[in-house]
Order: sequence, then structure tokens, then C-alpha cells
Amino acid sequence: MSTAPAGPQLELRGVTKRFGGVAAVDGVNFEIAKGDIVGIIGPNGAGKTTLLNCISGVYHLDGGDIKLNGSSIAGMAPHRVARLGIGRTFQIVKPFGSMTARENVGIGALFGSAHARRGVKQAFALADEVLALVGLKAKADLPVSALTIPDRKRLEVARAVATRPQLLLLDEVMAGLNNVEIDEALEMVRSVHATGVTVLLIEHVMRVIVGVCRRAIVLDSGQVLAQGEPEVVLRDERVIQAYLGERYAKRLKSS
Ligand SMILES: Nc1ncnc2c1ncn2[C@@H]1O[C@H](COP(=O)(O)OP(=O)(O)OP(=O)(O)O)[C@@H](O)[C@H]1O
Ligand SMILES: [Mg+2]
Repeated sequence: MSTAPAGPQLELRGVTKRFGGVAAVDGVNFEIAKGDIVGIIGPNGAGKTTLLNCISGVYHLDGGDIKLNGSSIAGMAPHRVARLGIGRTFQIVKPFGSMTARENVGIGALFGSAHARRGVKQAFALADEVLALVGLKAKADLPVSALTIPDRKRLEVARAVATRPQLLLLDEVMAGLNNVEIDEALEMVRSVHATGVTVLLIEHVMRVIVGVCRRAIVLDSGQVLAQGEPEVVLRDERVIQAYLGERYAKRLKSS
């Protein structure tokens, strides 16, 4: 029997990533508990995507350490990090256009985390399950090129979920969606989280952060500016100054 570690599932200590002389991520510390759902917010260029790239092994760190269940994953290649159970989406959606939604997700299921190795038949059974979970069941046999933007975002999430991650990293999966589509996407994230997956999501839509996240981490110029309960963080004067702006603050006060 494997014993579950008592510490955090994900732990970042002094995580730093530089491009040229500029630290895009600069000494970031935080922890995420298993089963939590946490939002990362902050202005454009704050280092949010870079941070996700550090966690998923796309970038080598220039400093600090990242631990998954107590073991360092710093310096590991992305496929090894994925096999350990960290799944992710990309800010720029890159599906295989001529394939169907089902085939796209099936590939995610085939190349999943280590405990999830499976044959083609099982992979497609899992693909169907995940497509239903994200609300794409009726469109499973459509080529991706025929899907709308919101459906492509769903597909992107489905591809990551099909790898059976223990931790899912989502990068702005609700960007460009209208209010109705955001509500549907919120429901999708809740459904995925309810299957037991820990979720770390980057989002500019505050309704999403308040609606699903138990905790929010604010990045500014590569550093953690504030973290805590979303309602508290979003009223923090420094966060309003650096990111949300006065207009948002006024709306919050009048609501
Ligand atoms: N591959 C790269 N090479 C050089 N500079 C980079 C690279 N990736 C990001 N940067 C720089 O690092 C900083 C952080 O960028 P990043 O994309 O992480 O921000 P972000 O918070 O995700 O922004 P957005 O909200 O616009 O997606 C920016 O100044 C950006 O120009
Ligand atoms: Mg980004």
C-alpha cells in the first residue's frame, strides 16, 4: 500500500526563471494541498504562464525548487513531469485540426500519467467519459476544425484531463468566452475538480476566481504580491493598485 504524504501536493520554494537579465518569475513560494483549487491572477506579463511552464518542466529553473508530493521535480523533462501526474493546457490552443474531438482526447488518454497506461480501446473509452464530463459528448465525432472556440477550449481541458493527472494546470481556458460560455466553463471546471483532481488555474475573469477558487495567488512582476481567500485578496489595496484598478474596486464596493 502506498502511503499518502502528509505535506502539500505541490510546493514551490524560491522559484526563479530569467529571460536574459529579466526575472519573469522571481523567488516564488507557495504550497498547494491535494484536492485544492487555486487561482493565479495578475497583470499581463506578470509571469503567470512562465510559472506554469516552470511547474510542467518546459523551463529549467534559474533558482529554487519545485516538489510534487515531497519529491523534487525541478529539472525534469515535460514528459516525465506529465507521467508523474501533472497535466496542463496551453494558453495558445493547439489541437490536431483534422482529427475528431474523440481522437484528440484519445491521444491524451494513451499518453497519460504512469498509473494510467492503457490500450487503445481503454483509451477511447476514457476519452468518451472525459468528453461527457466537459460537455462535448454530442460533438465527439466532429473534426476539431468544425468546433467553436468555446468547444476547442473544452477540448483542450479534456485532453489534459484524459491523461488522468493528480494536478491540473489550466492557462486562461475561459479567455474570449461570453458570460453564458463562462458559466458553462465554470461548471466544467467544477466537474473536473469534483473527480478529485487538484486544480491550479490562471484566469483574468474575476468571477471565475471567486466562483470556483478556494485560494488566489496574485503575481506581479514575477513575485507573489498577495495570496489568500479570493474575496480577501481582491479587496487588498495593493492588488487593486497593481492589477484590478480603481474601476473594479468601485464596482466591488457598490455590489
Ligand atoms: N520565452 C520567452 N522569452 C523571453 N521572454 C519571455 C518568454 N516568455 C515570457 N517572457 C517574458 O516574461 C514575462 C512574463 O511573461 P508571461 O507570459 O509569463 O506573463 P503572463 O502573466 O502569462 O501574461 P499574460 O496575462 O499576458 O498571459 C514577460 O515580460 C514576457 O515578455
Ligand atoms: Mg500568460
